[in-house]
Amino acid sequence: MFASIVPRYDTINTLMTLGLDRRWRRQTVAMAEPAGGIALDIATGTGELARELDRAGARLTIGMDFCIEMVGAAQRKFAAIDACGNLRLGVGDAMALPFAGETFDCIVNGFMLRNVADLGATFAELYRVLKPGGRLACLDLTPPRGPMRRAFSLYIASAVPLLGIVVGRKYAAYRYLFQSLSIHPDAERVAAMMREAGFAEASFRIAGFGTVAIHLGRKAARVA
Ligand SMILES: C[S@@+](CC[C@H](N)C(=O)[O-])C[C@H]1O[C@@H](n2cnc3c(N)ncnc32)[C@H](O)[C@@H]1O
Repeated sequence: MFASIVPRYDTINTLMTLGLDRRWRRQTVAMAEPAGGIALDIATGTGELARELDRAGARLTIGMDFCIEMVGAAQRKFAAIDACGNLRLGVGDAMALPFAGETFDCIVNGFMLRNVADLGATFAELYRVLKPGGRLACLDLTPPRGPMRRAFSLYIASAVPLLGIVVGRKYAAYRYLFQSLSIHPDAERVAAMMREAGFAEASFRIAGFGTVAIHLGRKAARVA
């Protein structure tokens, strides 16, 4: 499904979020504090968050996704911009990462949480590869509450798939967005799952008029 949406992925993302995704990505990366560290963007897709980590001063950034076509799109993008060679890409699964424990200073992901087969196991795996004191920042849609609930449900159930047909010529992949969100846990529950996976601290901020959550998890620092 992800391979099928590669060609128009960035365009539809910008249209669907009215361009707000750029701001949310910047906020997510700022929360992960990547400057000077080794950073992972897991489920990198076309590499937008990885680019943002690089811009924010990560010493080395790895973008990884299990969809080879997405990684190919990111590769083409990076070939044009990665003057210093600090950006790397790889194919791999968020639930079984090909890295030793305690490799990364920070990890980010965008619009991944709703898509993994087992969210608890994914948090445990991300926790494993983070160094003590490391940060995990996750950007994704969240089931909205209050007055936005009806309007957003209507938007995501009808306008988004329509956009998918008109711009991307794909209906099922954008209809899936609605289905995945309808079974996604709310922001409090996601934070609780991060703590269950071992994170010493887990908090979140809400953006996009209540429709987006950015979670931050922190692994406890090693006690000297
Ligand atoms: C909606 S896209 C988001 C792409 C990008 N992170 C962004 O912010 O635009 C979701 C991505 O998650 C990837 N993905 C889903 N499950 C994954 C997993 N278990 N391991 C690695 N990548 C995964 C998909 O291949 C897809 O590229």
